[in-house]
Amino acid sequence: MSAQHDRTAWICGAGASCTEFPSPVERPVRLVLLGAPGAGKGTQGELLCEKFGCCPLSTGDVFRAARSLDPARLSPAMQTALGCMQRGELVSDETVIELVRERVHCMECRCGFMLDGFPRTIRQAEKLDGMLAGRGVALDAVLSFELPREEIVRRLSGRRTCRTCRSTFHGITKPPAAEGVCDRCGGELYQRVDDTPESIRVRLEAYDGSTIPLVRYYEKRGLLVPVRADGSPDQVFTRAMETLSSRMLLKPD
Ligand code: AP5
Repeated sequence: MSAQHDRTAWICGAGASCTEFPSPVERPVRLVLLGAPGAGKGTQGELLCEKFGCCPLSTGDVFRAARSLDPARLSPAMQTALGCMQRGELVSDETVIELVRERVHCMECRCGFMLDGFPRTIRQAEKLDGMLAGRGVALDAVLSFELPREEIVRRLSGRRTCRTCRSTFHGITKPPAAEGVCDRCGGELYQRVDDTPESIRVRLEAYDGSTIPLVRYYEKRGLLVPVRADGSPDQVFTRAMETLSSRMLLKPD
């Protein structure tokens, strides 16, 4: 997560607004990240948001934030959504679209945005198109991170996430300086409830069935930027930036 954005409007929804804004960027960048669970969307998202100054908008983070609320305060739809998430299943389109619709003003943010985890189905993508068109904003690109299955499972099983700032670490490839403590903010690191072997299997099946068709959807619209996601985070970032920079230079504001 970019340290510049507090994301209150996105995480809390229901009319909440951000208290801290970074300086306006010269050219707001608007991106969508696609890729299987564990392909590194969150990791690359942090780097991309730092680079472009845009705000990271993850639907998964909204659900994880809701987990820490008193269950009595959650709507029945959100309680069902959290059950789906824990099992690794996709949350229903209706619930996710409603959640994004409540936060649609984030897409007019003067800093731009980077959607991570939405859309995940063709129906969600069509709804997103409508929301953006209604606000006169357009996507710059859809980055699709591609990684072999064995590496995905290795990455997810070793992941640890910060409860406070949501930064991610990995027991082997990106260990924190002190075990269980976030390097960035000192928060507690934990293992996500959906990073169990059974939930990982269900999530990968959901990705194959529902999200892969989106690659074709955005390819047809000329927005797709495929990125090989093997190698270190810095190597992947360099690859993403090379492809993206030439594309952004070609695109008028
Ligand atoms: P969400 O939070 O979106 O999770 P996800 O798509 O499953 O993706 P992940 O966060 O697991 O992985 P990532 O690609 O960000 O990888 P990361 O960078 O952390 O969604 C969770 C759930 O919410 C869904 O299953 C669903 O139930 C629900 N949901 C959310 N949105 C929805 C929607 N639109 N519709 C329906 N349901 C929805 O990296 C993983 C690990 O690898 C880390 O430990 C990291 O340190 C390490 N790593 C990263 N890059 C590298 C590298 N280059 N080399 C070595 N290690 C690396």
